[in-house]
Amino acid sequence: MHIVHTLPDLRAALAAHARPAFVPTMGNLHDGHLALVRQAKPLGDAMVASIFVNRLQFLPHEDFDSYPRTWEADCAKLQAAGCDVLFAPRETDLYPEPQTFKVQPDPLLADILEGQFRPGFFTGVCTVVMKLFCAVFAGKAQGTAVFGQKDYQQLMVLRRMAQQFALPIELVAGPTQRADDGLALSSRNGYLSETERQEAVQLSLALRALAREAVAAAHALPGQVAALEQRAREALAARGWQPDYLTVRRRNDLQPPQAGDALVVLGAARLGTTRLIDNFEV
Ligand code: PAF
Repeated sequence: MHIVHTLPDLRAALAAHARPAFVPTMGNLHDGHLALVRQAKPLGDAMVASIFVNRLQFLPHEDFDSYPRTWEADCAKLQAAGCDVLFAPRETDLYPEPQTFKVQPDPLLADILEGQFRPGFFTGVCTVVMKLFCAVFAGKAQGTAVFGQKDYQQLMVLRRMAQQFALPIELVAGPTQRADDGLALSSRNGYLSETERQEAVQLSLALRALAREAVAAAHALPGQVAALEQRAREALAARGWQPDYLTVRRRNDLQPPQAGDALVVLGAARLGTTRLIDNFEV
């Protein structure tokens, strides 16, 4: 595996490759990331991963400084998973000057759910992903990037970005990887105490229950769906969680559903100081 830190070195490493396949990450890699790497590997002529903890997508009170940096372990895991090129820019490589130009996503999609509770998050994500895409794919005829479906709204926002900017990059969804008890794998699971780790699966159980109820109420009025969502939030809160949202949405635009729409349930809740997210297509 070729490790590069600067844009010129990345371009040199990819000079002979016309169709890179790319998995961007913030490091602290787990089996969910490695599944994305393995999925991406046959989709291009070079498998590129990046590790960059992107300050722009963290709110001031969030965990940018304490976000786990596990460089040696990450390199070993990427190498074993078949990564060809690892791009690990320093902050000054990717943001050599303050990033005053930003990619502003459609507020209808980006100011709801995660965007409502983490204002500016998707602007930070879109801006860094656009920069990473320019770094990896500049001069390439086509490319593929694989993103985890656990970050469902992020994937939708980035797909819209790629479509509206007519980027010659196909965005592919990687299925959510789960622990044996059903907890979605996430770098932030490492923040959980032993007791919290046992409790953590309750978010996915609550979402599965909400999904079942939403299907049973397929022809329900929006007010009835809202009542199901409130009950799900209250049930989780009664177990000691602080839910941000547990909600049933229309799959194609994440707006409240009408009868007959394909659905997705999405949730975000804090357990102690750890904020977890999850989702299921219904
Ligand atoms: O999903 C993530 O890990 C990050 O949001 C991403 C896409 C690597 C951008 O920093």
